[in-house]
Amino acid sequence: MNKVIEAIEQAVKAAEERLASAADASVLEAVRIEYLGRNGLFPALSRQMGTIPADERRETGAAFNAGRGKIEAAMDAAAQRLQGGVAESAGIDLSLPGRKLPRGHKHPISQLADECVSIFRRMGFIAVDGPEIEDVRHNFDALNTPQDHPSRDPQDTFYFPDGRILRSQTSPVQIRVMESHQPPIRIVAPGRVFRRDTPDATHGMNFHQIEGLSVDKDVSMADLKSVLQSFAREMFGEKVRIRLRPHFFPFTEPSVEYDFSCVVCGGKGCSVCKNSGWIEIAGAGMVDPAVFANVGYDPEKWTGYAFGMGIERLAMLRYRIPDLRLLYENDVRFLEQF
Ligand code: PHE
Repeated sequence: MNKVIEAIEQAVKAAEERLASAADASVLEAVRIEYLGRNGLFPALSRQMGTIPADERRETGAAFNAGRGKIEAAMDAAAQRLQGGVAESAGIDLSLPGRKLPRGHKHPISQLADECVSIFRRMGFIAVDGPEIEDVRHNFDALNTPQDHPSRDPQDTFYFPDGRILRSQTSPVQIRVMESHQPPIRIVAPGRVFRRDTPDATHGMNFHQIEGLSVDKDVSMADLKSVLQSFAREMFGEKVRIRLRPHFFPFTEPSVEYDFSCVVCGGKGCSVCKNSGWIEIAGAGMVDPAVFANVGYDPEKWTGYAFGMGIERLAMLRYRIPDLRLLYENDVRFLEQF
């Protein structure tokens, strides 16, 4: 046995001992560098191979390869022991499937607004946006609202000190669109509106509407009715019934209120529909010629209809929510259901 073989055997023994008692992976790396690394023992021994007498080379080369193999095997064994050991001691079963992380999702009102937009989009409307902080001209004046109309009262509408307001309806988006575009127009505008209401099961101080406006030649009330009817069916299925009641809005003439049959109680009467069997969903009507004049359209040439729906009302019917305050309490037990 020559000196090189002796050195190899000693090295293997020392390395195996260290690896067997290694408490963490840093020992593995240290052993690898010391014995197998570029400046380690084995490359150094390999360089000495030339000094070995020819008749011993074969035996020495075999010892060299076997020794390196043993150290590698000991490193593998130590790595496995360490990995298994950590997982086991922490009570981890590596064969179990991973845990799912909870994922968030859109608020039910946003989901429903998206759905409304997609229904109207299929009927040829495009979605537009308008500011939540409005001026009185867009929210009231241009919409033909008389100076003494109760909706202008600070008891109903939130005013800023500079005279601007939180919009009380999405109808000002009608004005903004008509001011900046020529007919034909076919838009819907979903968004948040604000009123000084006392919150109860069916009212909130801020809620959501989706506004619709269509302006073209020879638009009629029948067009309005068929669009709203198609919407009701797409949203609630064939069973939903609809009714129009005469009403008044300053910016439409004639004006209607539009009800859907209560899908919570089937029309029998419940707290959602206040025992009437119907839920008021939309105000609507034919665009008043005075509004066209205010935006510079020729009222002799153009006709149009407009509607504004309450999205929370749709949500109550769609998801059978008895109290819309549930939508805003951010209770995940409620929100998780959507
Ligand atoms: N803006 C009205 C409201 O908030 C609804 C409406 C919109 C009525 C469009 C007619 C036309 O009550």
